[in-house]
Amino acid sequence: MKLIIPSPAKINLSLWIKGKRKDGYHELITVMHTINLYDVLYFLPSDRLELHIEGNQTLPLGSSNLIIKACRLFREKTGINPKVKIKLEKNIPIGAGLGGGSSNAANTLKALNTLYGNPLSKEELFELAENLGSDVPFFIRGGLAIAWGRGEKLKFYSPANFKILLIYPYFSCSTAEVYQKLLQIKREISVEDAERLIISPLINGNFEELKENLVNDLEKSESDCVKKVLKIKEELKELGIEKSLMSGSGSCVFSIDTGDLNTDLLKNKHWWFKFLSAI
Ligand code: C5P
Repeated sequence: MKLIIPSPAKINLSLWIKGKRKDGYHELITVMHTINLYDVLYFLPSDRLELHIEGNQTLPLGSSNLIIKACRLFREKTGINPKVKIKLEKNIPIGAGLGGGSSNAANTLKALNTLYGNPLSKEELFELAENLGSDVPFFIRGGLAIAWGRGEKLKFYSPANFKILLIYPYFSCSTAEVYQKLLQIKREISVEDAERLIISPLINGNFEELKENLVNDLEKSESDCVKKVLKIKEELKELGIEKSLMSGSGSCVFSIDTGDLNTDLLKNKHWWFKFLSAI
C-alpha cells in the first residue's frame, strides 16, 4: 500500500463578489484553473494516522491541519479509521491565494477513498469536500471551472492551454481578513456572464480580450496585505506588464501571456517568480 499523489495549485481567472450573506460568507462567482505547481502527498503504511511535512514553510500538524480534518471527516462518514503515514512535500506558498491547503484536503479525501476500496461515490466526495472549505470541492476534479455560491457550486470545462507568470512576494494574506475588510460590493453577474467574459476568450485563445476582462473584487479589500499586493501590480506595470491580477485573496499575482519579457528585471525584485502552465 503506497500512493504518491500530486496536489496542484490554482489561480482565479477572475472573482466577482455578489454580496455578503447572513452566514458571514460572501456570495461570489469565480473562474479557477489548476496550474503545474504541485505539493506532493505520500500515503505510506502505518499502524496509526501520522502526518509529516517537508519543506521550509510552517504548518500546523494537529487537528487544525486540513489534511487531518479530511482524515477525520473520512472516518466519520465511512466508519473506516485511516491508518496511514501521510508525508506532505510542501512547495505551494501558504496564504498566497493558490489554494494549496484546499488542494491537499481534496487530494487526501480522494487518496483515502482509493486506498480503502472506494466506499464513497464522487457525489459524496464533493459533499465532504464542501465541509472542509469553499475551494476544496473544486480540487476534487481540478482543471477549469466556474464556482459560485460561496465557491462550492461548480461547472467544469475542458482544461485550457495557456501560460502564466506567477509572482509570490514573500508575504502571506489571511483570507478571512481580506474578506472582512471588503467594502460593500453588490455586483450583478451570472455564470453565463463569466462564461462570456472569461471562458470563451480563454478557450478561443483570445488572450487580449481575456486580459481586458480579468477582475478580482478582492483587490478592493482595505486590508494592508492587499494594499501591498496592489503596489506589486504597479511595479509590474513599470516593467511593462500592463495587466496582472491578484489570485484569490492574495498574496500571489499572475499575468497571462507575458510574451518576451526581460526576466533580469524580475530577478532584481525580491520576489519568487515562475513561468507556469495551466493543467
Ligand atoms: O471556506 P474557507 O474556510 O476557505 O473560507 C475562509 C474564510 O474566507 C471564511 O471564514 C470567510 O471569512 C471568508 N470567505 C467568505 N466568502 C467566501 C469564501 C470565504 O467570506 N465565499
